[in-house]
Amino acid sequence: MKSILVIAAAAVAVAQNIVTSGTHNALTKRNTTLPSSFKWTSTQALIYPKNDSRAIAGIKDPSIILVNGTYHVFASTAKVEDPSYSLVYFNFTSFDKAGSAPFTYLDQSGISTGYRAAPEVFYFEPQKLWYLIFQNGNAAYSTNPDINNPLGWSAPTDFYNGTPAIIENYLPGGYWVDMWVICDDAHCHLFSSDDNGRLFRSQTPLVDFPKGMSEPVIALEEASKYDLFEASNVYSTGNSSYLLLVECIGVAGRYFRSWTSSDIAGPWSALAATEDHPFMGEKNVVFEGAQWTRSISHGEVIRTDIDQHLRIDTHGIRFLYQGVDPKVSTDYNNLPWRLGLLTQVEDA
Ligand SMILES: *[C@@H]1O[C@H](CO)[C@@H](O)[C@H](O)[C@H]1NC(C)=O
Ligand SMILES: *[C@@H]1O[C@H](CO)[C@@H](O)[C@H](O)[C@H]1NC(C)=O
Ligand SMILES: *[C@@H]1O[C@H](CO)[C@@H](O)[C@H](O)[C@H]1NC(C)=O
Ligand SMILES: *[C@@H]1O[C@H](CO)[C@@H](O)[C@H](O)[C@H]1NC(C)=O
Ligand SMILES: *[C@@H]1O[C@H](CO)[C@@H](O)[C@H](O)[C@H]1NC(C)=O
Repeated sequence: MKSILVIAAAAVAVAQNIVTSGTHNALTKRNTTLPSSFKWTSTQALIYPKNDSRAIAGIKDPSIILVNGTYHVFASTAKVEDPSYSLVYFNFTSFDKAGSAPFTYLDQSGISTGYRAAPEVFYFEPQKLWYLIFQNGNAAYSTNPDINNPLGWSAPTDFYNGTPAIIENYLPGGYWVDMWVICDDAHCHLFSSDDNGRLFRSQTPLVDFPKGMSEPVIALEEASKYDLFEASNVYSTGNSSYLLLVECIGVAGRYFRSWTSSDIAGPWSALAATEDHPFMGEKNVVFEGAQWTRSISHGEVIRTDIDQHLRIDTHGIRFLYQGVDPKVSTDYNNLPWRLGLLTQVEDA
């Protein structure tokens, strides 16, 4: 728990500059200064499993991007029977229509059946290809020239030749999960978690992506696995400024800690990084209507920039997350996870 005490110093260190930037979407003026504390409002659960032959218990791990007025969501579906985890795609033009968006189960595409979970979608501009990053026992990717064609995803290809030795070494008691790719101008970086207190990072030159991922190194670690569990997101918040989010397990439920760095390779400085003062968690979320979940769990910032740099604004952040009715007690893969939307509000 040591690092929990080291929170304040870096919180206000990010430069106060406004940059003009944009890829595909309209140029936008943006504030690149992250606040030192966060507050959110949450909707009720908006997206549920369909009542169809798939008999899914939970919808989880959403990755979301807004392209030309359409929100594209990739998510995991969970159930008890094998394969316990699969991928689903849907789209909508406004959140009031999110719950009725038809599902396309991606095992019908080249991704095929088998264990696949925790997707991240992004557009890799140098190759004019969409990438879907996910876990399949290894870290895998699938590509598609057209995000509007959900059956157009290629067969999965693994990033690594088996489980890297350093991950295997720390794995007993954990699981290797939640892969995430972000690129700077020179390299693409692949993050993953071990559900055991460690965040790993590999890199490859941008020109070689997706081949050539290096042996992972430890990007961040905690003595207690609950303080650095899984579901990392790394975003660019401006020129040489990055935001790292990692899901942790607290007293109330799941919550996110945050860190910043001037380099994707770190070192990372704590920003809002305790359960009492989290990036997102029960302590700083106000629900519209009844509180339907105590966990603020795996999800993604809604990105509107469309390339491998994963740039986001530092104000007015919207985060699509998974939550669950705390009264339900069942097998983990049978939990009724649903998706809700957080909107950042200014800390007045
Ligand atoms: C950017 O955000 C910071 C922190 O909230 C605030 O102090 C500053 O005034 C904002 N700048 C602009 C130009 O909006
Ligand atoms: C789900 O579909 C089945 C079969 O059509 C139907 O019997 C059942 O009532 C439906 N349940 C709900 C909650 O809509
Ligand atoms: C978005 O719209 C622009 C302009 O019509 C088009 O060039 C681009 O291909 C569209 N992007 C996607 C992903 O459909
Ligand atoms: C949305 O999803 C449907 C499949 O449900 C797909 O046919 C369509 O191309 C997707 N994209 C848009 C922009 O509607
Ligand atoms: C980023 O900052 C560096 C150093 O201040 C500057 O040279 C460069 O032009 C900036 N890049 C952008 C895209 O603003």
